[in-house]
Order: sequence, then structure tokens, then C-alpha cells
Amino acid sequence: MSTKIQAPKGTVDTLPAESWKWQTVERIAREVAELYAFREIRTPIFEHTELFHRGVGEGSDIVQKETFTFTDRGDRSLTLRPEGTAGVVRAMIENAQLNDQGSRAKVFYIGPNFRYERPQKGRYMQHHQFGVEAFGIAEPAEDAECILLQMDFYRRCGVKDLSLRINSMGDRDSKMRYRDMLVKYLTPLASSLSEESQRRLSTNPLRILDSKDEKDQKACAGAPPASESLSDKSRSHFEKVQQLLTEAGVSFVVDSTLVRGFDYYTETLWEVTAGGLGSQNAIGGGGRYDGLVEQLGGRPTPGVGFGSGLERLLIALESQGVELPSQTKPLIWIATMGDAAKPVTWQLLSELRAAGFSADMDLTGRGAKGQFKLADREKAKFCVIVGDDEVKNSTVVLKDMTTTQQQSIARSELIAKLHEALKA
Ligand code: HAM
Repeated sequence: MSTKIQAPKGTVDTLPAESWKWQTVERIAREVAELYAFREIRTPIFEHTELFHRGVGEGSDIVQKETFTFTDRGDRSLTLRPEGTAGVVRAMIENAQLNDQGSRAKVFYIGPNFRYERPQKGRYMQHHQFGVEAFGIAEPAEDAECILLQMDFYRRCGVKDLSLRINSMGDRDSKMRYRDMLVKYLTPLASSLSEESQRRLSTNPLRILDSKDEKDQKACAGAPPASESLSDKSRSHFEKVQQLLTEAGVSFVVDSTLVRGFDYYTETLWEVTAGGLGSQNAIGGGGRYDGLVEQLGGRPTPGVGFGSGLERLLIALESQGVELPSQTKPLIWIATMGDAAKPVTWQLLSELRAAGFSADMDLTGRGAKGQFKLADREKAKFCVIVGDDEVKNSTVVLKDMTTTQQQSIARSELIAKLHEALKA
């Protein structure tokens, strides 16, 4: 026998018994996005490498260390998308969705992303996000709408123990001012920083603030908060977001150490953590990115959105003991007793499917016992049994697999009876 090939590390297979959970959270995501009037967008899972360098940022950890980049057969450098925002912005510009002054668009997506990160619980090389992006709406109410949508999604999935942290980096000038302020504060402390953060001091000093390294955290303890460098406009934008969240009854904390891993963020940033996840507890995060569309060659257009990790959501639900509502169709199993019944059951199979039932039967000629065993294994809700007598009398035996009760009914009544039984 040849050696077995295993899945690449940091990837997860979703097996048939578990896939309904994915279908359920994706269905809830679509429903909630639709309620807030966001429409779906699908973009490729790979893009030109340059998009992420220009979009996500040269100095970000993601671009420096975590991308899956390859040269294709035509010698082009391509990268598997590490996140959704840059590709969505590229697609919106390229397809002339943001061309006119005052263009406005609200989109959502569900799909895989790829990051070369050390795998652990809740952190994978391939993960999936439900994300939304709203373009053309600079008002703080749009930041609030995205946050409300995100929290609504979690509420509908039943996830508990959530905490929302928000911060503001301000507009581009405020952010630059803050960066300078932080460098001035940290430079005399450089030797006490981790090696990584010493490097970041020149490449991406803001990221030092959310370093997990104790040395860095100690050095940052007295750092000035971003709020000190906010322009008046940015301050009032951030205050309005907070006011709207408070009015909507959403609890949050302002966390001045919250910075997020992408260079594109301006103004409001947020992150939501959930209990039951361990150290990788960020279940979703987002923010405003008012300069990104222009930076990627579009007309200046504000943007705001979030991405929410679906693996982490499912882990949180599982460890919190929350049962997702299953919408899988109950299975009707058809059992054939003897050769005379074969054409009848084959026909019944089509009839049930045409009437919208999930139906299945054994096609390999198992005996009665084997067929019932299969029906149990497949968790059938009802069994429709046809033998010689039933063929003769144009009847079927309908067996409820939960109660094991069975009754003989006219074949012509089967569909109506099943509808009735499943409604009860
Ligand atoms: P992000 O915070 O990097 O933001 O990712 C969003 C969420 O994806 C995280 O909070 C986490 O739940 C999940 N996630 C990220 N990396 C992994 C991983 N390696 N394994 C499992 N789950 C992971 C973004 O990606 C931004 N594009 C969000 C955004 C949209 N901002 C504005 N618009």
C-alpha cells in the first residue's frame, strides 16, 4: 500500500457530519447581511502580490511574514489572499462600482483566507471569514452600523461572553502624529524592547502597542494614548460612534492600546473577543479605511467594515455549549423487500425527491436487516417499506423511526402523509 497523504498542517477538513454547522452560520451571516442591506461580492482567492503590498501594507506582519506567494507559469507574482478587504476594494474599483462622485456600496463576503502563521487552537493557515465593507459613507453612523451588524450576527448565532473594544487612530495626519509621538516615547526605551519590536520601531511602531511580549508591554505601559493626537474632526467622529453604540445599547470599552495589523486603518478600529477560545480569542475585528480606495487607484472614497473568523465562532459556540439550530432536511429511507418491489421503490425515490423530500435507499441489494441498519446509520426519520403485498395492493408501510410505530397507507397518500407527519 502507498503511504497516505495528509492534509497540510494548519488546515482543517469539515466532514459531512459537521458541515451543517458551517451551513448554519453562513446562512445566518447571509440573512443578517441582507437585513442591513449588504449585497454579496465574490472575488478571487489569489490576487497580484502588489495588491497586498500596497493595500495591507509593506510594514505589516501579514505582508512581511505570513503571505503564501508564488510565481505562476507566466512569471507573475501571485498571493493567496490573507484577508478580504484589499481584493474587494480592487474589484470595486476595477468594475467601476465607485466611479461616480457620491458612489455608495455595501457588500459582504464569505470565504477562505490564507496566512502562514504557526497553527494552534483557533489559528490556521487557511481560515474563513464573514466580512462586510461599506463604501462612500464617511459618517460615524456607518461605523456604528457595521458594529451593530457584527454584534447582531453573534447574537443570532447564540455566542455569549463577548467583549467589544474600540479605539481611534484618527485621520491620516492624526495617525502620523501619533506614530511620531510613539517613536519619540519608545526610542529611549529601545534596548528594553523585544528584538521584533526594535525592528518595528522603524517599520511599524504602532504594532508595538499590541505586542504580546512582556518586555514590550512594560515599555508601552506609560505610552501616550492615541486620543492625545486626534484632530478635532477625528475626536468628534469617534465620540459620535460611541454615542451611537451607547444609544443602541451595545456595551464596549475604549482601549487605547488597540491597534490592528493593517496599515490601511484610519479613524475607528474595533475588535470583538469571545470566551472559550483560549489565547486566539479575537472572533472578529474591523475599522475604517478612508484612504485605501484612493491608494489602490480609485476615486477618493471612504470605507469601513469588519471580518469575522468562522472557525473561531464555531469553536466559541462549541466550548460555550451553544446548540446551533439545525435546518437539515429529515431523511426518508425507502426499503425494498423482494424483487417485485424494486421498480416501485425506484419510482418512489424520484417522486419523493420531486416533492422536495430528502430521500435515499440501498442500491446494492442488501437484505431487510441490512437496509434497516443503513436507515439507522443515516439517521432516517421515516422509513417507507414496500414488499410483495404492498405492490399488489398499491400501498406502502410508513414507519416512524423515532417511535418505531408503523402503518399501512395507500401509495397515493404517501406524500400528503409525510408532509403532515413532518409538520407535527
Ligand atoms: P483580521 O482581524 O485580521 O481582520 O481578521 C478578522 C478575523 O479573522 C479575526 O478576528 C479572526 O477571528 C479571524 N482570523 C484571522 N486570522 C486567522 C487565522 N490565522 N486563523 C483563524 N482565524 C483567523 C481582517 O482580516 C480585516 N480584513 C477585517 C476588515 C474588514 N477590516 C475592515 N474591513
